[in-house]
Amino acid sequence: MGHVFPPETVIDEGILREVMAKKKKILVLNGPNLNLLGKRQPEIYGRLTLDEINKQIQSLAKELDVEVAARQSNSEGELVSWVQDAPNEFDAIVINPAAYTHSSIALRDAITAAAIPAVEVHISNIYRREEFRRHSYIAGAAVGQIAGFGVQSYLLGLRAAAALCNA
Ligand code: DQA
Repeated sequence: MGHVFPPETVIDEGILREVMAKKKKILVLNGPNLNLLGKRQPEIYGRLTLDEINKQIQSLAKELDVEVAARQSNSEGELVSWVQDAPNEFDAIVINPAAYTHSSIALRDAITAAAIPAVEVHISNIYRREEFRRHSYIAGAAVGQIAGFGVQSYLLGLRAAAALCNA
């Protein structure tokens, strides 16, 4: 969880140490159709299922000593609600917004409002594909974007998010 203290606050050293030592929590979100990974256009998205990707994410999380919750939704509203609630529980977000990347101002606004670091990831290189995939509404709200590395996009995204919330 993000901690914001007014400038005049005197922070107890013990409490500060406790906050710093607390395991960071990262929310990994996947957008529409990513539940179909493994059988959806494997020539573009590979043969790993979302469960298999999530297993790799969890094993890297252990290595990085962070906690990860992974969720997927086909619904824009549900993703927006999860992003809105994220600062109550999480220190950073890794998000593959899937097709909402190219359409959702609502998701971008939610990420901006959440005010915790967000890393945008894509399995495919969205700049080498159809013209309409070259624009991301999310990019302007994210700290950065990783695209084109398959499952590694998520793992690199998790490393970036862990570094951001431990910085
Ligand atoms: C994607 C790229 C998007 O353009 C597409 O709509 C997706 C997946 C990716 O991970 O490469 O569903 O986000």
